[in-house]
Amino acid sequence: MGHSPAGLFGYSHLFGGYAGGQAEYARVPFADVGLLKIPDGLTDEQVLFLTDIFPTGYMAAENCNIKPGDIVAVWGCGPVGQFAIKSAYMLGAERVIAFDRIPERLQMAKEYGKAEVLNYEEVNVGEALKEMTGGRGPDACIDAVGMEAHGTDFMAFYDQVKQAVRLETDRPTALRQVIVSAAKGGHVSIAGVYGGFLDKIPMGAAMNKGLTFKMGQTNVHKYLRPLLERIQNGEIDPTFIITHTLPLEQAPHGYEIFKHKKDNCIKVVLKP
Ligand SMILES: NC(=O)c1ccc[n+]([C@@H]2O[C@H](COP(=O)([O-])OP(=O)(O)OC[C@H]3O[C@@H](n4cnc5c(N)ncnc54)[C@H](O)[C@@H]3O)[C@@H](O)[C@H]2O)c1
Repeated sequence: MGHSPAGLFGYSHLFGGYAGGQAEYARVPFADVGLLKIPDGLTDEQVLFLTDIFPTGYMAAENCNIKPGDIVAVWGCGPVGQFAIKSAYMLGAERVIAFDRIPERLQMAKEYGKAEVLNYEEVNVGEALKEMTGGRGPDACIDAVGMEAHGTDFMAFYDQVKQAVRLETDRPTALRQVIVSAAKGGHVSIAGVYGGFLDKIPMGAAMNKGLTFKMGQTNVHKYLRPLLERIQNGEIDPTFIITHTLPLEQAPHGYEIFKHKKDNCIKVVLKP
């Protein structure tokens, strides 16, 4: 990667080699800057997601340079996508359109996020977006899927085969659609993580439409205080995302149902 990109808890030696925090006790390096004191009157659940997915969804929306009247499309209605949808509206989007294939995630995006939702397995994503935006495409497109995307088109099959024989590291199925769908002069915001080398990225479309790309591991610290304020003001209650609360001993089960999207699992809170 040229340089070590960041220091992240629980994210391997590529990112500083810091152990994760899902334990009864955690050693916190640089604790004088790394911690945020939570004011009284807020529950753990209300502020827990300030540590990752709320800032991630928010930064994804901020990277879209949203102006009044903008239409934002979000690929992926996992936890990151859900917060990207809410943040896009907080930052002034007129409409948010969201894609996934998992019914309960689409339902949450519709009910809590007020997004217009589509199952990407049931529609032609590019055509649907043209139809919904008067032929222009969304002003901004957010990839909240990342390298483990699924898909039903030929390119998704191509990625699966190349990944299986170790000729490609990531499956950028959603990212290709994001780039091709964005309106001329639009913004592409990538919150989904990519790890290595990607094939068949439509750079011709990106260059010739004059797209602006913004992406990155989230600068969580930049957002901690401003987003805490939004929670305190009642602009958002992040607890909507919690579908399961489990004791720490059941963490393997929690990971299992999250990974395989069983039992309507969207987000698990572990209680040490
Ligand atoms: N940038 C950051 O700092 C940061 C922080 C946290 C998470 N992330 C990344 O964000 C991504 C999403 O995280 P999450 O916790 O929401 O994960 P998740 O796996 O729960 O959600 C991803 C969603 O995308 C859907 N999906 C798969 N293929 C799709 C496609 N082709 N089109 C539309 N939707 C599709 C899946 O059904 C799933 O609901 C991951 O890559 C994660 O690593 C990034």
